Amino acid sequence: MKAFLPPIIFETMWIAKTKSHLKKQLNDCSQPVILVPTMGALHLGHAGLIDMARQRAGKSGTVIVSIFVNAIQFDNAGDFEKYPRPFDADITVCQLHGVDGVFAPGHNEMYFPDRSITVTEELLSKGLCGDTRPGHFDGVCTVVLKLFNLTRCDAAVFGEKDFQQLAIIRRLVRDLDLDVEIILHPTIREIDGLAMSSRNVRLLSGHRKDAPRIRKALLAAGEMTSAQQILDTARQEIEKSPYLKIDYLTLVDAETLSPAANLNTPTILACAVYYDDVRLIDHIGIRR
Ligand code: PAF
Repeated sequence: MKAFLPPIIFETMWIAKTKSHLKKQLNDCSQPVILVPTMGALHLGHAGLIDMARQRAGKSGTVIVSIFVNAIQFDNAGDFEKYPRPFDADITVCQLHGVDGVFAPGHNEMYFPDRSITVTEELLSKGLCGDTRPGHFDGVCTVVLKLFNLTRCDAAVFGEKDFQQLAIIRRLVRDLDLDVEIILHPTIREIDGLAMSSRNVRLLSGHRKDAPRIRKALLAAGEMTSAQQILDTARQEIEKSPYLKIDYLTLVDAETLSPAANLNTPTILACAVYYDDVRLIDHIGIRR
């Protein structure tokens, strides 16, 4: 009979569901505190962020993962309701990756019913996902600022896949003088190239098989020389799919995120696409 080897679980991991519990835990925390903000449904991409946080925190520092499906960043109630919430599995991922503590508040713990302050970024959040998802980045900025304050983190790790979110959070830190270092983790992909996302589990099997096309289209386009050729190639490749609907497909300046008419500065080719109501994003850098 095969011996059953239980996974190594770090029994000491705490889970705080309230702000007061978190506060108590933080009193005993050793520095630096590195936060990985998530909405749960943790996959290997998140595991990469957690491992990077662990590396940065060192053995003695503290890694905190927040798990909070932030209603105020959803522009669509259906998307919020359908967002996966496999809490027990998430806790196991955190334990297996040596997280010190999880902050998992409920909505009412995070937001007062008469909440009247929202953080708005007014430049970088225009365009791209900001156009299709009105209010989304206000919700992100508001919750991220709250999570930074509540966890008193020294640094926080974010995935590069959400490059617009990353640029906006960096601006939040700069403009509000937050003493939090933003650490970037490169996009983690499935073997077939699809960017990992908590939404991937909602893809129908035919859609999942088709989805590597997104990255392939961007890479094929990246081989082209002019901005127009790049956009045309990406569109043609994506439109070969019988399922995909393009939300946006665009070239933007990597710094300002404003539309890039030529390739004179570092540029990003970015897209958001739908398989039915599942919205996926991806991008590549264009170097000339
Ligand atoms: O990227 C995400 O998962 C979310 O936008 C974040 C940063 C956890 C805020 O809710």
